[in-house]
Amino acid sequence: MQANKLRKLYLDFFKSKKHKIVPSSSMVIKEDPTLMFTNAGMNQFKNIFLGYSKATDLRIANSQKCLRVSGKHNDLEVVGHDTYHHTMFEMLGSWSFGDYFKEDAINWAWEFLIDVCKLEKDRFYVTVFEGSDEDDIEKDHEAFMIWEKVIEKDKILYGNKQDNFWEMGETGPCGPCSEIHYDNRSISERKKIDGSSLVNQDHPQVIEIWNLVFMQYNRVSNGVLEDLPKKHVDTGMGFERLAMIMQGVKSNYDTDLFKPIINSMATKYNITYGVNKEKDIALRVIADHIRAITFAIADGQLPSNTKAGYVIRRILRRAVRYSYNFLDIKVACIYQLVDILVNEYGIQFPEIAVQKDLISRVIKKEEEMFLSTLKQGLQLLDRMIKNANDNVVSGKKVFELYDTFGFPVDLTALILREKQITFDIADFDREMKNQRDRSKQANKINQSDWIILRENSDNIFLGYDILESDVSVSRYREVRNNDIVKYELVFNQTPFYAEGGGQVGDVGKLFCSEKEINITNTKKENKLIIHTADALPDNVKSNFKVLVDKDKRDNISRNHTATHLLHESLRGLLGNHIMQKGSLVNDKYLRFDFSHFNSINQKEIEMIENDINRKILNNIPIIEHNDISIDQAKNMGALMLFGERYEEKVRMIQFDSSKELCGGTHVRSTGEIGFIKILSEGSVSSGTRRIEAVTASEAINFCNRQGDLLSDLKFILKSNNINESVQKLIRRNSDLEKELLLLKKVNNENIKDKLIRSTIRIGKVRLIVKEVDLSSSDMKDISFSLRTENHLAVILVSNHNNKVILTVMFSDDLVEYGFRANKEINKLSEYIGGKGGGQPFFATAGGNNPLGIPLLIEASKKLFK
Ligand code: SER
Repeated sequence: MQANKLRKLYLDFFKSKKHKIVPSSSMVIKEDPTLMFTNAGMNQFKNIFLGYSKATDLRIANSQKCLRVSGKHNDLEVVGHDTYHHTMFEMLGSWSFGDYFKEDAINWAWEFLIDVCKLEKDRFYVTVFEGSDEDDIEKDHEAFMIWEKVIEKDKILYGNKQDNFWEMGETGPCGPCSEIHYDNRSISERKKIDGSSLVNQDHPQVIEIWNLVFMQYNRVSNGVLEDLPKKHVDTGMGFERLAMIMQGVKSNYDTDLFKPIINSMATKYNITYGVNKEKDIALRVIADHIRAITFAIADGQLPSNTKAGYVIRRILRRAVRYSYNFLDIKVACIYQLVDILVNEYGIQFPEIAVQKDLISRVIKKEEEMFLSTLKQGLQLLDRMIKNANDNVVSGKKVFELYDTFGFPVDLTALILREKQITFDIADFDREMKNQRDRSKQANKINQSDWIILRENSDNIFLGYDILESDVSVSRYREVRNNDIVKYELVFNQTPFYAEGGGQVGDVGKLFCSEKEINITNTKKENKLIIHTADALPDNVKSNFKVLVDKDKRDNISRNHTATHLLHESLRGLLGNHIMQKGSLVNDKYLRFDFSHFNSINQKEIEMIENDINRKILNNIPIIEHNDISIDQAKNMGALMLFGERYEEKVRMIQFDSSKELCGGTHVRSTGEIGFIKILSEGSVSSGTRRIEAVTASEAINFCNRQGDLLSDLKFILKSNNINESVQKLIRRNSDLEKELLLLKKVNNENIKDKLIRSTIRIGKVRLIVKEVDLSSSDMKDISFSLRTENHLAVILVSNHNNKVILTVMFSDDLVEYGFRANKEINKLSEYIGGKGGGQPFFATAGGNNPLGIPLLIEASKKLFK
C-alpha cells in the first residue's frame, strides 16, 4: 500500500472514532524554551496536558513532522547506519484529553492493526510498565489486563522505566506507556529464535511501531512527579516503520518514502544501492537528512551558527561528509534532491512545494561553504601531518581544527589513520571539556519550580487596548543566572505584550505599597505570559497595579505596523515571491528578512521607501479582525507565514490592502509612524535578504545625524560643494600616490647600489648583510630584484619601534647548490627573538629584540664558512 494511502487510512480510522483530524504543527518550535524542534506529536498539546489551556476538542489525531536530533530524544548518530531510525519522521498520533483512557486506546490500536491493516496477529508483542520504586509507581496491571483480552499472555512483556515510561524532556508531562512491537522476520528466522527475546534489543526487524502513553504526571525540576489535573492518552506510531511493514520490505529506506530519493542519487552518481556497505550508509544518511533539512527550512529554520540553526547546519554537514567521504562526490549535490522531495511530498506538505527555490538555493550555498571548509581543513591537516612528531599530532591542534574551522573530528581521525598517524585523544577531550565547561558556565541559568498561588487562574492579555491594569500574581518562580537573581511572574491579566511574532516583550513597572519593581521583559512559555521582574513584592498575594512603558510600546507599535507596510510594498514592487523569513521589531528599529534572490539597488530602495511613506501620509486607519476563522482570513486575502502555527481563530490586521495574521501591537492609523527611513539592505544567507529601517523619532535622529555629518564635512573641506571637493581630493591623492611610487623606485635603486657596494665575499658566496631603514615590502622588492645575481645572499634587517624584520634572499644559483633561505632564517631569527618562514629563495621573520641585530649580522657571515 502506498504511503500516502496508508496515512489516509490511519486518519480515516480515527475520524471514525470521533477524533478531530488536525494538521501537523511546525517542526520548528518558537514558543517553548525547553525544546527547539517538535520531537513528538504531543508537543503542540503540552499546555493541555499541564492544564494551562483547555482542550476545545477532547479527541484529536494527526500526522506530525518530528525531528529527533537534540536533547532527550536524539537519534542522529545511528541514522543511516541502521534501517529504521530517522532524524525527521512522521508520527501518526491520537490523543484523548481527559476523555477515554487505557481501554479504548489499546483496543483501537489493536483494531487498526489487525482489522484495518490486516496484519498477522502473532507477529505482535506488547510491553507494559513494570513499575518503579524510585518514582513510587506500581506495575501497570490495568494495561496488562486489557491486553490479555486480545493477545496471548506470553506476548505481553514487562518493561523498565527506560522503555515503558515516556517523558518529553527532563521536565514536563509524562506517564507509563505500552509499546506495540512487530516481528518482521522471515518464517524460518522466527522459528529459530523466539521473537519475545528480541523485543527492545535493537534488532532491525523486531521493532517498536506504536507507543501508547498514559499521561498522568508532570515531572518538575527537582525530579519529583506530580499528578496532572486529568488523565490523558498520547499515542504515536512511526509512519515510516508502518509503511515498511505494509509494503512488505525489510528497511524503511526500501519504502516509497525514501526509495525515489536513493534512486535519484544512485542513478546520477552511478552507484548501485545494496552492494557496498559504506556507500549504502551514505545514501541512507543523505536520503534521511535531505528530508529533515528541507522540512526545517520550509518551516522557517535556516541553517546558522547558533541554536536551532546550528542543529540544521550540523545535519546538513553530516550529509555532505558522507557524500564527500564515501561517495567521493566533491561538489554540491544534495540540493538537487529537493525536486524529488517536492514530487513525493509536495501535495501533503505544500510548504515545501511553494518554497522549493529558496530551499534548494540555501542548501546549495551551505554545501558549497562546507566543502570549501573541508578543503581548507585538509590543507591545514596536511601541514599538521608534515610537522607531526613521532607520528602523533597534538589533540589541541585537532581541537583547533574542529573548533575554528568546523572540521569534523571523525574525518580528521580517518585521514590521520590512513597516514598511520594518531592524535592525542586525551588532550583533545580535555580541550573539548574545557570549552563545554566555559559555555556551561556562561549560560548557567537555574530555574526553580513554579510556586502556584491561584490554580486555574486566567491569563488574559489586555494590552491591545490598555497599558495599565490591576493584577494579582497567579504563579511565580525564581531564576538565577550566575549571581543575578530575578523573578518570573504570571498575572491573572496583563497589559504587557509577550515577545512573539518578531516583536520584543514589553517593559514597565509593577507598583506595590512598599516599592516600584521594574519589569524588564515579557515572554511567553506554553501560552503563559511571563513577566521578568527585578524583585518580588513583599506580599506577593495582594493586588498590584502594573504599567507598560508607553514611549517604548508606542515606538514598538510604529515599527511593527511599518513592517507590515514594508512587507506589502516589497511584494508590490519586487514580486509576490517575497515571503517573510523572520523579523525583529523593537523600540529602536525594525529588521525584516525575506526571500528574494537579487540584491536591491539604491533606486529600488528609494521606491520602497516612497511607497511606504505614501501609505504613512495617507494616514490609513487600522482594521482589527479579531477571532475570525482561519478560512475567513484566507478568503479575505490574509498573508500567512509557513512554519507559523495558527490557531483556528485568528487575528488579522488590516491597513487598507495590507492584511496579515498577526498577534502584535499596532498604531491606530499609519500617520502615527511619522516616516520611515531604510538604513540598510543586504544578504543574510542565500536567497534571503534583510532590510533594516527606522521610523518616527529614530528616523528624524538618523536624518539629523546625516545632516550634521554633511555640515562637518563642509567645514573640514572648506567648501559648500562636497561632491566636487571629494572628487578633487581623490584625483589628487591618486596623482600623489603615483609620484610617491616613482620616488620610492629611485630611492630603492640608490639603496640597492649602496648595498651592492657593501658586498663582502666569503668563499664563493657574495654576501650583503646590513641593517636598513626600510619597510618590509621595500626589503622584499630590493631582495627580489637581486634574485638572478650570481652567488649572492642578501640578509637585511630593520628595526622600527622594537619591531624587527629580517629578510633572507638566496640567488637562484645558490638555491640550486642547496642553500635554503627558509631553513637559515630559523637560526637567524632566534637572535631577534622571533620566528619566520618562506621559500628556499626568500624568507622573512619578525621579532621583538633589536639588541640581537649585531649578533645576527655576525652570525650571517658565519653561515657560509
Ligand atoms: N509521545 C509518545 C512518543 O513520542 C507517543 O506519542 O513516543
